[in-house]
Amino acid sequence: MCGIIGYVGKKDCVPILLEGLRRLEYRGYDSSGVAVLSSDGVIVEKTAGKIGLLEKKVKQASPSGTAGVAHTRWATHGEPTTENAHPHLDCSRKIAVVHNGIIENFGVLKEKLQSEGHVFTTETDTEVLAHLIEEYYDGNLERAVGNALSMVEGTYGIAVVCSDSPGKIVGARNGSPLVVGIGKGEYLLASDVAAMLRHTNQVVYLDDGEMAVLEADGFSTTTISQQRVSKKVEEVSWNLEMIQKAGFKHFMLKEIFEQPQSLRNAMRGRLLPEEGSSRLGGLNMSDSELRKIDRIIITACGTSWHAALIGEYMLEEHARIPVEVEYASEFRYRNPILREGTVVIVISQSGETADTLAAMREAKKKGARALGICNVVGSTIARESDGGVYIHAGPEIGVASTKAFTSQLAALGVLTVYLGRMRTMSIDEGKLIVSELKSIPEKVEKILSESSKIEEIAKEYYSHSNFIYLGRGWNFPVALEGALKLKEISYIHAEGYPAAEMKHGPIALIDENMPVVFICIRDSAYDKIMSNMEEVRARRGKIIAVATEGDKEIRKRADHVIYVPETLGVLTPLLTVIPFQLLAYHIAVLRGCDVDQPRNLAKSVTVE
Ligand code: G6P
Repeated sequence: MCGIIGYVGKKDCVPILLEGLRRLEYRGYDSSGVAVLSSDGVIVEKTAGKIGLLEKKVKQASPSGTAGVAHTRWATHGEPTTENAHPHLDCSRKIAVVHNGIIENFGVLKEKLQSEGHVFTTETDTEVLAHLIEEYYDGNLERAVGNALSMVEGTYGIAVVCSDSPGKIVGARNGSPLVVGIGKGEYLLASDVAAMLRHTNQVVYLDDGEMAVLEADGFSTTTISQQRVSKKVEEVSWNLEMIQKAGFKHFMLKEIFEQPQSLRNAMRGRLLPEEGSSRLGGLNMSDSELRKIDRIIITACGTSWHAALIGEYMLEEHARIPVEVEYASEFRYRNPILREGTVVIVISQSGETADTLAAMREAKKKGARALGICNVVGSTIARESDGGVYIHAGPEIGVASTKAFTSQLAALGVLTVYLGRMRTMSIDEGKLIVSELKSIPEKVEKILSESSKIEEIAKEYYSHSNFIYLGRGWNFPVALEGALKLKEISYIHAEGYPAAEMKHGPIALIDENMPVVFICIRDSAYDKIMSNMEEVRARRGKIIAVATEGDKEIRKRADHVIYVPETLGVLTPLLTVIPFQLLAYHIAVLRGCDVDQPRNLAKSVTVE
């Protein structure tokens, strides 16, 4: 949420900053700006709207310099106007600040600064930082930033430049990610490694309470109170190619089509077909500790929360461990009962979601072991968890999560086998799950080849204003995920329900204008869902059904059928979700929506 990029080196920073902003656009895209340390002082260009508009503005003004910072915003305080866009300046217009996060005590600080004569020009919380740094500035920028931050409550990742120190960027973090990129005679600072991959894959991840000072000939790291800290340089395995569209019209489509490969990557080296078992190296728990787990709480947000719900079915059904799933935003403010034997699993694609991170910290504070299922290597959750599983989905850039979701499910499947085989799971049951997991990528490929058929269905329904998604058992969370995908990118109101719940309310909405999307797989719930379908037909609702290959019966009831190959019950969500991703995608495109950057959303939600 909000993207920061800074550059200091020998090259002109402007094109580097603009390209970095493009890579960070998924984090927020309602306004953007740059501050360049030029020979005429700090030059700031900013604008409401997408980065393309900023590029035009910058082209006209053509500022240049070898150090600068830039920002793409997801508004929290103040509307997404040009004035409220970052960077923000102090009264002397020497100090420019970009910020990701929320300054919670900004009201008190603003009043105090105003009473001391500071003049504010925006509605943002961030502007107080610029004035506060000005208040402390005595020629040493890092000390002024450190002193200012000691007054601040809230979360931040910031980058600051000052025209008195033309070759310097000061960054600091508390709760919002910041990474230092180490190039040759150049250094970068960004919210995310994607913004710097063109220049380097050598990075240092800042931790909360830390600062970095970047100059063309080196960088240093300290705490906010100026104590030196030495940090490990890490190598990023992602490359530039992975963050490009590769000929696809949208990142989301590319990511949907990458799923056979991302699923293989999630399971590579982890399945042991001969032993009907699996291997996970990163849990950091001994076998005897793993055997003592008698309860699991999974917590997450958004799409990752849907993966958690499916994980509950997997782990309870096959590993026989009681599982509870809770929204991270709720978990963090409850007083959850965490006894010995309870393990908390947090699931997060980005590894930075504020609520999920806070939930994990709360669990750890209470003495629970916290495991993370994350995609982004080096993310805060990945680093602070006691152990976990990387899903290796590669960079996911489309705001609506697709490949990360299926890879989370694959990781949960592998974990289920791992924990199950230590308990009651027989070798035959283990072998069956492992072989079904192995065959999933190929089955996903088959569903993807039906994309044009799904597009035809989308053409028929894209102008509807409401959809209902219904499923049962392990496919109930898929109904939630299908509805969420549609809402997120097409702005159509959609609701997911357990199919049998329909008669307790949603049925009142059904008439000939209501498309109802069913997941009607041949499993133990099949007959019941067929009855639910009849209830919709009786009210002239339109039915789109996702069904098991070869099911002819369903054609008599549904207006449209999308087939998926057969697999083991708890693994069906890995297949049934694919048509829903494609349906949402095609509908959004037909409605002319910005698929990769849907309104009001952000990929990585680093505020509460
Ligand atoms: C945001 C994104 C969703 C994502 C959720 C959780 O809302 O738009 O796509 O599912 O955050 O993100 P995480 O990175 O923790 O999985």
